[in-house]
Amino acid sequence: MAVERTLSIIKPDAVAKNVIGQIYSRFEQAGLKLVAAKMQRLSREQAEGFYAEHRERPFFKDLVDFMTSGPVVVQVLEGENAIALNRDLMGATNPREAAAGTIRADFAQSIDANAVHGSDGPESAAREVAYFFAEEEICAR
Ligand code: PPS
Repeated sequence: MAVERTLSIIKPDAVAKNVIGQIYSRFEQAGLKLVAAKMQRLSREQAEGFYAEHRERPFFKDLVDFMTSGPVVVQVLEGENAIALNRDLMGATNPREAAAGTIRADFAQSIDANAVHGSDGPESAAREVAYFFAEEEICAR
């Protein structure tokens, strides 16, 4: 299996709940390595650009409002099959449909406030990692 990098965001609801460390533990226990990380408040422009593919969706404004409502923690995770592995750890977008033991089943409230984001494929992972991090900010391990 190939070693991949994926972009992960701990969303404002999970930061407010003070579960950053618990979510990081899930990544580490699954064998994913943290190779870049930062906490920041997203500007509306940053959030709109990040979610540009959803611009026409009815929930777009709510999504941008939510993602700018408080600080987020953005990280690059590295490991074998990292993109799909992180999606498995996260669980379904709607926490009510998320499998037991996943991050969203354990920490998310609703489809709006769903604790984490993870890239959904190799192209989006490459785009999303580059959206937040310069290559020199990523520490090969
Ligand atoms: S899709 O149809 O597969 O492209 O959509 P999906 O990947 O499930 O969702 C895209 C992101 O939008 C968020 N989302 C919502 N936000 C607010 N309200 C509603 N109803 C809603 N539905 C989906 C969802 O959490 C996804 O965010 P990310 O950060 O990509 O997980």
